[in-house]
Amino acid sequence: MNSAVSPSAEHDILVPEWWRQAVVYQVYPRSFADLDGDGIGDIPGITSRVPYLADLGIDAVWLSPFYPSALADGGYDVADYRDVDPRLGTLDDFDEMLAALHAAGIRIVVDIVPNHTSDQHAWFQEALAAGRGSAARDRYIFREGTGPDGTEPPTDWDSVFGGSAWERVADGQWYLHNFAVEQPDLNWSNDEVRADFVKTLRFWSDRGVDGFRIDVAHMLTKDLTEPLPSRAELDALPRDGKHPLIDRDDVHEVYAEWRAVFDSYDPPRTAVAEAWVDPARIPLYASAESLGQAFNFDLLEADFDAAQFRRIVTSNLALAAESGSSTTWVLSNHDVVRHATRYGLPPAERTPDGRPVRKHGNEWLLSGGTQPALDRAAGLRRARAAILFVLGLPGSAYLYQGEELGLHEVAEIPDSERQDPTFFRSPGADLGRDGCRVPLPWTAGGTALGFGGGTPHLPQPAWFAAFAVELQVGDESSTLSLYREALALRQRLQTDEGLEWINTGREDVLHIVRPNGWGIIANFGAESYELPAASVVLTSGPAPAGSVPGATTVWVEPA
Ligand code: GLC
Repeated sequence: MNSAVSPSAEHDILVPEWWRQAVVYQVYPRSFADLDGDGIGDIPGITSRVPYLADLGIDAVWLSPFYPSALADGGYDVADYRDVDPRLGTLDDFDEMLAALHAAGIRIVVDIVPNHTSDQHAWFQEALAAGRGSAARDRYIFREGTGPDGTEPPTDWDSVFGGSAWERVADGQWYLHNFAVEQPDLNWSNDEVRADFVKTLRFWSDRGVDGFRIDVAHMLTKDLTEPLPSRAELDALPRDGKHPLIDRDDVHEVYAEWRAVFDSYDPPRTAVAEAWVDPARIPLYASAESLGQAFNFDLLEADFDAAQFRRIVTSNLALAAESGSSTTWVLSNHDVVRHATRYGLPPAERTPDGRPVRKHGNEWLLSGGTQPALDRAAGLRRARAAILFVLGLPGSAYLYQGEELGLHEVAEIPDSERQDPTFFRSPGADLGRDGCRVPLPWTAGGTALGFGGGTPHLPQPAWFAAFAVELQVGDESSTLSLYREALALRQRLQTDEGLEWINTGREDVLHIVRPNGWGIIANFGAESYELPAASVVLTSGPAPAGSVPGATTVWVEPA
C-alpha cells in the first residue's frame, strides 16, 4: 500500500474498514498540477502525479470540488454535480485518474457540497425564470422582503462570508445564501433536492469513488417557520439539535438515507463530515448510522503547546470511542493559514475556555506578512514535530497538499489577484484563504515552478522555489523525506488503535506508547528532554543521541 504500484494494490482496495487509520491527502485540484498549461490545475495533472502520491505513501486522495463552477468560491459553488469542469478535464479524464490512483493502491474521496448550489446551476436559473410560488423556487429558500415594498431583507442574518445572508432577485423576492451571494442555499425539505443528491452519490460511487467529504454537513436542514427569528434571537438559542439553522437533529434523517446508499456498495462507501459543531455533538455525525466519520478541527485552532495537544488528543479519542468511529487529525486544509506559518507566529490570545480570540495568522496576512514577525525556521521545525506526533496517534490523518513540502502561507498576493469571496465581502478585515491555495512548486526553476506551462492562477512567490519537490526528493533532511519515512513506518503502528500516556515529569513534553511498543515523544518546549533507554526509529529534526531537543518529536522502540 505504501509504495508505488504493487500487484496486491487492487486487492487492498476491497478492505472495508480502510478509512479508520488512513492517511488522506487533500488535493485542491486547481492548484496541484496544470497539464494543459492554462494556469489552472487539472485532472490529467493529478493523474500525471500519481507516482508522486504513491511514493509519498498516502492511503487516499480527497479531491476538493472539480465540478463545473463559476469559481465564486474556489469551486464550492457547484453548477453541475455530475460532471467535470471543462477547464479541469472530462469525465473520461476523471475515470483515468481514478484507475491510476486505484492501480497504485490509493483510494479516492470526492467533495460533495449539499448546502448550496452555484447560482449558475440549472435549478437556480430555472427558479429565477419561474417566479414566485413555483416548484422551481421551492428547491431553494425564497422569501418576501420586509419594510415598505419589501425592499428590506426578510431578516438581519449575516452570511458566513460577511454581509447579508439574503439577496434580492429582479421580481423582488429574496433568497437565502449562508455563504457567497453566488451560493444559494438549497431547501432540504424538498423531496426533489433529496432525491437528486442520492443520484449524485450513486453517480460517483458507480464510477468507483471510495468515499465522500461532506461540505458544511451541519447546515443542510432548516426550520424556517414564520415569523423568522432575528440574528440576536438566533445567537441566543442553544445549539441543541433544535436550532433553526445549525446542527439540527433532523439532518441525520438525510444521512440515514445516504448511509443506505453507501452500504449498498461493496466495500461500503465512506463519508467524513465537515461539521463545525459543539464537540459533544460530533459523534452524531461520526456514528455508523450517519456519515461514519467527522473532522476534528481542534488542532486547527491550537497553538504548538503540549497542554492543548494533550487535551485535544484525549477528548477526541473519547468522542471517537463514543461513536465507534476513528478520529481525524487535521493540521491544515484549504480554509486556514498553513500550520508552518501559524506555529511561527506568537500564540493566539484565548478566551478562558481556550478559543482563539485573535487570529495572528490573519493579522499577519493583513500586514502583508510583516506583523507580527514570522519566524519561518521555528514555524517549520514545530510543524515537523507536530505532524510526527499526529502521525503517531491512532485515527486517520488528513494532510493538505504542500504541507509535505513544509510550505508557508503566502501573504504577498496583490489585492488585484485575490480570489476568495471572504476577502471581497469583508474588505480589509479578512484577507481570506488564497494564501494556502497557491499552486505547488514542483521544480526550482522553469515556468510556474513546474506547476504547468501557463501563468499560475495565483502568483507563486520567489521563495517557493526553495521548497520545490525536485529539491526535496533526494534530500534526507527534507520535510518531504520526513513525511515519506513517517508514512512508511506508520503502517507498523496501525495494528491497534490503543495508546498509553507515560508521565514525563515535564508539562511541555508528551510521551505516548502504542500497542506495538513504539513510543512517540514530543517536546513542545525549548529545553532538551532526556530520552529513556530506547532505540530511535525516526526524528522530526536533528536529535543528539539520548535526547529530544525542543520542538522535536521522536519515535522510539524499546531498547
Ligand atoms: C466549506 C469549505 C469552504 C467553503 C464553504 C462553503 O467550509 O471547506 O472552502 O468556502 O464550505 O461551501
